[in-house]
Amino acid sequence: MKKILLYLAMFLMITTNNLMAQEMRFPTYDNKTHTAEQQPFADLSQKIWDMMAAKDAEGLKTIFHPNCEFVHMGGYWGTEQELATIGGGMIWYKHAEVYGVEVKMINKSNVAVYSTIVLDAELGGQTTSHPFFVTQVFNNEEGAWKLISFVFTTRTGGPGVEMPNAPQGGQQPLARPQGPAADYKAPVTPTLTLNNGVKMPQFGIGTFLMPGNDACYDAVLTALRMGYRHIDTAHAYQDEQGVGRAVNDFCKESGVKRSEIWVTSKLWPSEYAQADAIDKMLARMGLDYIDLLYPHQPVGDFKTAWHNMEAAVKAGKVRCLGLSNFEVKEAQDAYRWCVDSTSVKPVILQMECHPYAQRVAESTQVRKDGMVVECWYPLGGQASNGALLRDPVINSIANKRNITPAQVILAWHIQEGHSIIPKSDNPKHIQENIESLNIKLTDAEMKQMRDLNREKRFYEFNIEQTRQFVNFSLPDEQAGGDASAWNRQMSEELERGNKQ
Ligand SMILES: NC(=O)c1ccc[n+]([C@@H]2O[C@H](COP(=O)([O-])OP(=O)(O)OC[C@H]3O[C@@H](n4cnc5c(N)ncnc54)[C@H](OP(=O)(O)O)[C@@H]3O)[C@@H](O)[C@H]2O)c1
Repeated sequence: MKKILLYLAMFLMITTNNLMAQEMRFPTYDNKTHTAEQQPFADLSQKIWDMMAAKDAEGLKTIFHPNCEFVHMGGYWGTEQELATIGGGMIWYKHAEVYGVEVKMINKSNVAVYSTIVLDAELGGQTTSHPFFVTQVFNNEEGAWKLISFVFTTRTGGPGVEMPNAPQGGQQPLARPQGPAADYKAPVTPTLTLNNGVKMPQFGIGTFLMPGNDACYDAVLTALRMGYRHIDTAHAYQDEQGVGRAVNDFCKESGVKRSEIWVTSKLWPSEYAQADAIDKMLARMGLDYIDLLYPHQPVGDFKTAWHNMEAAVKAGKVRCLGLSNFEVKEAQDAYRWCVDSTSVKPVILQMECHPYAQRVAESTQVRKDGMVVECWYPLGGQASNGALLRDPVINSIANKRNITPAQVILAWHIQEGHSIIPKSDNPKHIQENIESLNIKLTDAEMKQMRDLNREKRFYEFNIEQTRQFVNFSLPDEQAGGDASAWNRQMSEELERGNKQ
C-alpha cells in the first residue's frame, strides 16, 4: 500500500468565532457535479459530517482508519483520540455547512475530497462557528475505503465568511512587497522601558493567522519598510521562518541593524520540557537571538520551560522573558510563581485587550508587579468579526477626525500605555495602522473609549480546554520541517499520484 499522508498548514485557531454570517449562508454543494466514480466519495464525506453531528463514534470507527491523522486546532490527533473526543462529547461537531466538494481520484488506492465548509462546533457548552477548507484522504485497504487523513485549514475569506475588512472570495496572495511611496514618512514608534531597563518599541505587527510563511514574509517586509520595528510571532503560528527571513532581508537591503528590530516568539506547551526548543526556534528563524520569549499558555511544564528560558537569557539567545495568557484567574499560582520565584523576572504580560475588554483589574495587577501590558486582539481579532470597527462611538470619533476606526482604536491603546501588535497582511492596513502613531486623542475621546469597556472578551476558552494544548504538537514538530514546505511536498506527491 502506498500510504499518503496529507498535512496542510494549520494555525492555532481557537474556534471561538461567532460569525454573524450564519443567516447569510447559501450552500452551493451540488451532487450532480460529480462523476459516478467520484460520487461515492462525496457521499462518504457527507456521511462523516452527519455521523459527527450525531456523535456516532461507533459508526465513525467503521470509516476512520485506525492510523488516521486528524489535523485541527493546531495539533495532530490519532483516531482513538478523535473518537474519544466525539463520543465523549468534549467537542461536538454540530453541523457542517458544506459549500463545495471536489473529489480527486489520485490513484486506485487513494482519493482526496476537498470541501469548503463552515463548521458549527460546541466546545465547553458554547457553540462556535468557523470557516475551513477540509481535506479528507481515503485509502483503499483490501477492498474497503477508510479515511486516512483529515485536515482542517482555516479560511479567512470565501463563502460563509463575513469579514467586512478582509478580502472576500479567498485570500489573495500579496504582490511582492514594494517599498512605500517616495514621499512616505515613517512615524516614529515610541518605546516602553521594561523592568530590566531594556527599551521595547511599543507598536509592532502580529503574525497570527498569516496565510503561510511566504505571505508572512511579504507582510513583515512591507511593515519593516514602512517603519515597523517590532514583530510578534509564535511557534504555534507556523510562520516564524517568514518572520526571520523578512528581518534578515530587510537588514541587508536597508542597512538597519538587527538590534534596531524587536522580535518576539512563543514556546508551545508541547515543547516546554524540550531542552533544545529555543535552539530549534532560532534555527527556524535564522536569527542569533530573539528579543522576547513567552511561554504561550499557562499550562503544562511551564516551570521547566522557564528554567530553559532563563538559561537562554544567560547564554545571550533571548533578551527578555514575558508571560502570555498567565493573567487568567485559574493560572494565578503559575503567574505568581513566575513573578515571585524566578531568577529572570517577566517584563511583560500579553493578553487579550481591546476597548470591549479593557482588562482593568488584570492590568492593574500586572503593572503592580512591574510589568508592561501587551494586547493581543488589539482590534478585536478575527473572532470579533469586525465588531469594534463597526462600533458607533469609535466610528463617530473616526468620522470627526477623518481617520479610520482601526486608527482610533490603536491610538487609544498607545495612549493607555499598551504595547500593541495588530496583525495585517494587507499593505493598506499595515500603513494605516502605523500611521495611527501620528494621532493624539483628546481627554474627552479617551473617556469615550474607556466607557466602551464591558470586559467582554472575544476569546472564551477555559483552562481545561487550554490544558489540551499540552498534547497538541505542531505540524513542523511532526514533519520535522516547515509546514508549508511539507504541504508543497505532499501536494506534489498528490499531483504525481493523480497522473498515475
Ligand atoms: N498570546 C496569544 O495567545 C495571542 C493570541 C492572539 C493573538 N496574539 C498576537 O497578537 C496579534 C494581534 O492579534 P490578532 O492578529 O489576533 O488580532 P487583531 O490584530 O486585533 O486583528 C487582526 C484582524 O484585523 C484586520 N485588520 C488589521 N488592520 C486593519 C485595519 N486597519 N482595518 C481593518 N481591519 C484590519 C486584519 O485583517 P487584514 O490582515 O486583512 O488587515 C485581521 O483580520 C496576533 O497577530 C499575534 O501576534 C497572541
